[in-house]
Amino acid sequence: MKVKILSVLKAKPFGYVSGEALSKNLKVSRTAIWKCINELKREGYSIEASSRKGYRLMDTPDMLCHDELVTGWDGKVLGTDFIVLDSVDSTNNYAKKLASEGCREGTVVLAENQTAGRGRLGREWVSPKGSCIFLSVILKPQIAPSRVPVVTLAAAVSVVKVIEQMTGFRAGIKWPNDVVLGGRKVCGILTEMNSEIDRVNYMVLGVGLNISVQETDFPEDIRSKAASLLTYARNEGLSFQVLKRNDIIKMLLSRLEEFYGYIEAENTLPVIEEWKKYSVTLGSEIKLLWKGKECNGLAMDVTEDGNLLVRFEDGTLHEIVSGEISIRGMLGYV
Ligand code: BTN
Repeated sequence: MKVKILSVLKAKPFGYVSGEALSKNLKVSRTAIWKCINELKREGYSIEASSRKGYRLMDTPDMLCHDELVTGWDGKVLGTDFIVLDSVDSTNNYAKKLASEGCREGTVVLAENQTAGRGRLGREWVSPKGSCIFLSVILKPQIAPSRVPVVTLAAAVSVVKVIEQMTGFRAGIKWPNDVVLGGRKVCGILTEMNSEIDRVNYMVLGVGLNISVQETDFPEDIRSKAASLLTYARNEGLSFQVLKRNDIIKMLLSRLEEFYGYIEAENTLPVIEEWKKYSVTLGSEIKLLWKGKECNGLAMDVTEDGNLLVRFEDGTLHEIVSGEISIRGMLGYV
């Protein structure tokens, strides 16, 4: 019922909805409405009550909240279930366990805090509590395992598009899926999969996006390489309106759902084309570890499977499937 009340109040931003209208609409007593409103207030919603005019929603809390997430959510594949945790070792670990127990595709695991967040290539992912998004979504795509990297690229494209939509900031994507703002990493994506030779049983797509982290809240060793939307705006002297994380999550999932639809229909082109628009990799001189050797080259293109085509210094062309690159002129290239 709280969810329904929230929907009605949200449909009239800053406008009053009378207790009578709510009780008629939801077919419950006005006392029941009043009790729910008080519960919502205790959860951090700012709701003004006037005996003459009714209730109006003034502000919502920036806490991950199941009710907020399901309110107005009309995703068909993603967000079939939202699991909101206060603290967990890693949302990816939690999601993998659920997936192995056979949960529905589209289940989303979120946490305010991760005590052992994991990054790519066995690294740790450290971001402070309450000011980031830690999200893992369980997918069961009916595609060849070799196509799974495109889903990860789609997640990176979804992130840059959401950042652009809500702040106007133009983030870039460093192959394969680091999202960077002002040369610093603002979002990382960790995809893990359970598959057979020719089919994917499930995959867990984990996204860590730094929203309002203060510079000094990043561990010292990554401070010069990490960004949040807030630190970027401060450093660039820009302003933006910070949206609530629940809303950002819904924007992100709905973008991702659109791209996921193309991938499941065996059409990776729209994802690859969008990825290229935001790429900070293509056309750059890069360094990478290849067969145990450090190599220099020029990033030429990405394939329809999301692999990177690199022209090495000796003129040979190679398709890079995984790993990490550094880009000349960007933090980390030494
Ligand atoms: C990277 O190294 O760039 C990937 C970082 C991925 C971090 C996210 S946060 C949510 C999810 N849970 C994890 O433990 N990792 C991913």
